[in-house]
Amino acid sequence: MSIIKKLNEDIKTIVEKSGYELQDLVLQPSGRRDLGQFQLNDAMTLAKIYKKAPRIIAEDIVKSLSEDGRFTNLNIAGPGFINITLTDEYLGDLLTKVYEDKNLNIDTRPRKKIVLDYGGANVAKALHVGHLRSANIGEALKRLATLLGYDVVGDAHLGDYGRPLGLVVLEIKKRYPNLPYFDESYTGDFSEIDLPVTNSDLEEIYPYASNKSKEDEGYLEEARAITFKIQNHERGYYDLWKKVVEISKKDIKQVYDMLNVNFELWLGESDAAEYLQELDEIYEKSNVLIESEGAQIIEVKEETDTSPMPPLLYKRSNGTVSYETTDLATILQRQKEINPDEIWYCVDARQSLHFDQVFRAARKVKLVEDRVGLEHIGFGTMNGKDGKPFKTRDGGVMSLKGLINLVEQETKKRINPDTVEEDEKEEVAKTVAIAALKYADLLPFRGTDYIFEPEKFADLEGKTGPYLLYSTIRMKSLLTKASTLEIGKITKFKTETEKDIALTILRLPIILNKSLDSRSLNDITEYIYKLTSLYNKFYAENKILTEEDKELQKSWLTLTKIVYDINMTLLDVLAIKVPEKM
Ligand code: ARG
Repeated sequence: MSIIKKLNEDIKTIVEKSGYELQDLVLQPSGRRDLGQFQLNDAMTLAKIYKKAPRIIAEDIVKSLSEDGRFTNLNIAGPGFINITLTDEYLGDLLTKVYEDKNLNIDTRPRKKIVLDYGGANVAKALHVGHLRSANIGEALKRLATLLGYDVVGDAHLGDYGRPLGLVVLEIKKRYPNLPYFDESYTGDFSEIDLPVTNSDLEEIYPYASNKSKEDEGYLEEARAITFKIQNHERGYYDLWKKVVEISKKDIKQVYDMLNVNFELWLGESDAAEYLQELDEIYEKSNVLIESEGAQIIEVKEETDTSPMPPLLYKRSNGTVSYETTDLATILQRQKEINPDEIWYCVDARQSLHFDQVFRAARKVKLVEDRVGLEHIGFGTMNGKDGKPFKTRDGGVMSLKGLINLVEQETKKRINPDTVEEDEKEEVAKTVAIAALKYADLLPFRGTDYIFEPEKFADLEGKTGPYLLYSTIRMKSLLTKASTLEIGKITKFKTETEKDIALTILRLPIILNKSLDSRSLNDITEYIYKLTSLYNKFYAENKILTEEDKELQKSWLTLTKIVYDINMTLLDVLAIKVPEKM
């Protein structure tokens, strides 16, 4: 059990000793640090239960607390708020325990298996700004949940199966009609064929084909037919599709690598296709499919709905499978192959209707047991200064690589030429840019939109990735310089700042839990900023390396090491890499 949780339990026991019982008594951090470090506001609740004046109850509790020996400066404010301060000796002991604990005193949870569906890249289309948040939030949630004891499997769930692929294959056919893929008499091995199309060609081909299909009904019809051929594994078309996926996947992997995002599984929509037949059988047997203008739909409306809930499109009239049905087949696949306790989808909040429909349709036929959680973790958009989803200057879609570049231009200006050699500058600027972008992205509550401001994200001061990196590197450098000095025990505090750092350290387990419960990283990004800026204040006020009081110096170095370890752990949870220098 974490120290902070144990302290809460101890206080509860002490309160019980004074004659009062409250199941969910909570020791709060004080809002008035001049009055104490903690605050206990439960005398008011107890007053109602025990029909006594809260002030009397508070006095009884304070009496028991003062007999304990670990608390000091106990006082009662207002009608019965109890202010509690830990003695320096006790606070020091607690911090020494954190230092000694390899796991930084984190509370872990009972094991649970989770599939986390995030990333959402689509094959043959460049990763763009819209893919940033799913990658960042998903990766960080995965790391956080893993740190707290869950068994999490991240799946990229590539969009590799729908009409876009039909369009791309069609356009390749138009440009290179003589490729053996389109020659019915070809009997050779397709893996030996050199496709004259690169990834950047694909990035040009898709938008071209997509636009053309909007103007040309015949072209669209051809693309539909090809999509059908691919989905039915027709020789040639299916092989070309496989090749396109392979080329595109390589590039997608490279961009995710840049963002420190890595998936345990690289499955795609197409991998769920094997389950489509079984899915059909399940839905047909349970009589929920309704014929509608040649298509099949599922009614998912519920009586309590207050907003429109259209039926789910299960199969189009031309036989092709919808995005919804692909997700249903994927649920069946995950259930059979992974058997998770929960499936989380870290996907843009604008897809919430889609997930409502899919989850309801899945529950209707018990695709997963009722105990298995299905959860859409939606997020807001990154906007331009005009408040609309961020675009390139000419109004086009900004690629993720382009976006990273814009931030890199800003971080490059701030690299210190005295510490970073010219030939390392590029590399360091990139690492710092990724940190800047990721930290800014994880700073607001996930549901909130935010504005892309590269100059601000790259700032070395304030709530930014570079500020945290810079500070953390400085802590490391201090610890390196102090490597021959004593470390390992906290016995002394000189100022209140150090005690504030200590109290903030003790709160770490609470922050981690809160963050996982809300499926948002903002509590962690705020916390790491608070801890770091408190530390920097302390650092500016003291000369640690030349301090003459050796007990105090040892306490300070121990405190520094804990803060450094917490920063490294949390930055790793956020999937932010720390450079050696910057
Ligand atoms: N590829 C989809 C898109 O770009 C996102 C996939 C999200 N995951 C899912 N299981 N539907 O919109």
